[in-house]
Amino acid sequence: MSTQPGEGRRTTVRDLLDMKQRREPIVALTAYDFLFARIVDEAGVDLVLVGDSVGQVFSGYESTLPVTIEDMIYHARAVRRGVKRALLVVDMPFMSFQVSPQETLRNAGRMLKETGAEAVKLEGGDEAAADHVRTLVRAGIPVLGHIGLTPQSVHVLGGYRVQGRESIEAERLSEEAGRLEEAGAFGLVLEVVPATLASSITSMVTIPTIGIGAGAGVDGQVLVLPDLLGLNDAFKPKFLRRFAELGDAARAGVREYALAVRARSYPDEEHSFE
Ligand code: KIV
Repeated sequence: MSTQPGEGRRTTVRDLLDMKQRREPIVALTAYDFLFARIVDEAGVDLVLVGDSVGQVFSGYESTLPVTIEDMIYHARAVRRGVKRALLVVDMPFMSFQVSPQETLRNAGRMLKETGAEAVKLEGGDEAAADHVRTLVRAGIPVLGHIGLTPQSVHVLGGYRVQGRESIEAERLSEEAGRLEEAGAFGLVLEVVPATLASSITSMVTIPTIGIGAGAGVDGQVLVLPDLLGLNDAFKPKFLRRFAELGDAARAGVREYALAVRARSYPDEEHSFE
């Protein structure tokens, strides 16, 4: 990728701002474990997010709500060992930042200290969320904002649906984007919003926007890794393109293994010790 920082240098939030200015697309992806983190990093992704989607794609929960700070720290530490070059961002899980700015600061500080991540992400764009962002940025913790479909608020939103279709909602989202920029967020995730709205927010703010289901007029894209690799068969939202079919490949491999064991053709001489 042309924006590669120098050999041995990690991508910084400054690099992402520069990429926006140069209109160079930012490539972001989630990761939850060491091996996939290493693959993602070696493939040249700019930003790796340890998302609280870990609750759904790793732990099999129905939503992200049960995910704890300990879960995030555990996964982020594993991902940290695999990520040498990309900017590493860790999600603040439900109820780790909603209570008070002090508690938000304590939790975010802990997440950075114990994982080695460079930044945190938190959902929401109201005044309270902006206050939390301000508190963290003042303490030296870079924050990625996240507006639109914010899965931690699924019960308030009434399901996982497109946000900002009505003009009043679109206005609210634009206000939230401006508020988070003003509070010091270094970037914004825009999740499942109409492409025209995402594009207009992208032109309005000076910080990079990273879309998921937000069309092509944003500064970068993020996807949940098992979704794009075809490991999460049942999940087929309109915005998702599968770039590989690892679910099929894994099933085929496991079937082959079972056949070989049952036929006693594995292990053979080549795979046995004398
Ligand atoms: O938790 C997550 O994986 C996310 C991305 C979808 C942006 O928030």
